[in-house]
Amino acid sequence: MSSKFYVTTPIYYVNDKPHIGHAYTTILADVLARFHRVAGEEVFFLTGLDEHGQKVQQAAEKRGMSPQTHCDDLAPRFLELWKTLDIRYDDFIRTTQARHVKVVQDILQKVHDNGDIYLDEYEGWYSVAEERFITETEKDSGQFRDVKKLKERNWFFKMGKYQTQLIEYIEQHPDFIQPNHRRNEILGFLRQPLGDLCISRPKARMSWGIEIPFDKDYVTYVWFDALINYISAPGYGADEKNFKNWWPASVHLIGKDILTTHAVYWPTMLFSLELPLPKTIFAHGWWLIGESKMSKSLGNVVNSLDLIEQYGVDMVRYYLMKEMILGQDANFTMESFIKRTNSDLANDFGNLLNRVSGLLTKNFDGCVPEQQPLTSAEEEIRANAQDLGAKVSRLINVLRVDEAIEAIILLVRQVNRYVEHQAPWKVAKTDLKAAARILYTTTEALRLSAVLLSPVMPKKCLEVLDILGAASTGTKWGELKSGTKLKNHGPLFPRIEIEK
Ligand code: MSP
Repeated sequence: MSSKFYVTTPIYYVNDKPHIGHAYTTILADVLARFHRVAGEEVFFLTGLDEHGQKVQQAAEKRGMSPQTHCDDLAPRFLELWKTLDIRYDDFIRTTQARHVKVVQDILQKVHDNGDIYLDEYEGWYSVAEERFITETEKDSGQFRDVKKLKERNWFFKMGKYQTQLIEYIEQHPDFIQPNHRRNEILGFLRQPLGDLCISRPKARMSWGIEIPFDKDYVTYVWFDALINYISAPGYGADEKNFKNWWPASVHLIGKDILTTHAVYWPTMLFSLELPLPKTIFAHGWWLIGESKMSKSLGNVVNSLDLIEQYGVDMVRYYLMKEMILGQDANFTMESFIKRTNSDLANDFGNLLNRVSGLLTKNFDGCVPEQQPLTSAEEEIRANAQDLGAKVSRLINVLRVDEAIEAIILLVRQVNRYVEHQAPWKVAKTDLKAAARILYTTTEALRLSAVLLSPVMPKKCLEVLDILGAASTGTKWGELKSGTKLKNHGPLFPRIEIEK
């Protein structure tokens, strides 16, 4: 496995305040980045904002602001949310930044010089909402709003010429587009002839974008501009050493609605630039409320900030990571949020912590007891705990985040059962050494679980480790130091009581 991990989120349109759809992918990237950092890998985690194009221009117009003022006003709200959500990104790119604009223009010039960009007049159906020309079939599907006939001179990218190369690439790289049903979807799409891509917009119609370097009357189509962020941020054309260090990205995380742009437009652009393709493009599903996608226009967007204020950021992170099977849609309901929090966090993880601190206070003066020779009951726990780090890594590497979390919670449950069965509160009355054996085992398993869960719940797990006075965040069994005094604490994972 490589010792470098470069992960990206989509760059978000700055047309409104951030919502849970944005929060989700960014938390997912953060969790993956943290797991890889814990595994000792070098990590580059990129996120940012998509500030050009019609959607942003319209949003700014509505507020009576210039697009740049509008973006500058909204950008801090994203940054605040990332701070609240404990997102530890390494770079935050805004497509209006000079460093990005320059790269986009250099690339346009280069691709133009290569002969892959040409001027043409095109007449067709244009979807204002989607900001692109659509085919007759797409128009007839009725899935597109604001469709009108448009005849325009524009610049085109010779996307079609790379069709065969792209198909071959996808066929030879089974991990390139994930999950598998998305890969099949793209291969299906590529069975039709692939047209060229209109990559300009006349300023007369839409002026908010990066000027085409060889034609001052046009700006760049927002997707051609935005996708380039994945290489402009690590320094394409500016800091070759850093760029080479990171590119190709390990994984582009995206939602399923932006698969075609990532799995077709982007690779063909990279082919034209003779750059390697990202190792994986992973499309996750949507968070649904009832049967519909959470979206601004539907007005059903859960304000993640409200949830966090009420229940704490780590509960929300945990829920989002555990509840969505990557690649499928998931239903966001308060009921499942409460159920998940109460069962995994209050009843399992929180309960284990309360037991440990209660029993140690009562029987060992609040200190971690000495290690003792293990019996088969403890050996079973140790064996499971010892293997868990590697198992979690394996699952994270193949993006099975919910299963990785489940594996950790299973250890927590196993230990809770063990404590109940061993009843150290009774044993301590007659055999202190045996009680020490049981409670060292329990405390060490708690420490390990907290270490392993820390990418998902960074703050809470750090608190747990701090309570245990655990200097070690290693995942080897037996690193918990005996004699350390536990800190007092309140309930870290309170049950959510349902109002009747
Ligand atoms: N700006 C483009 C991305 C350019 S990347 C080079 C864009 N931005 S977006 O803000 O509209 O959406 C960003 C992401 O949010 C998409 O991946 C989309 O799938 C995701 N989500 C928006 N609503 C969502 C849910 N309800 N659930 C999960 N993710 C969803 O597209």
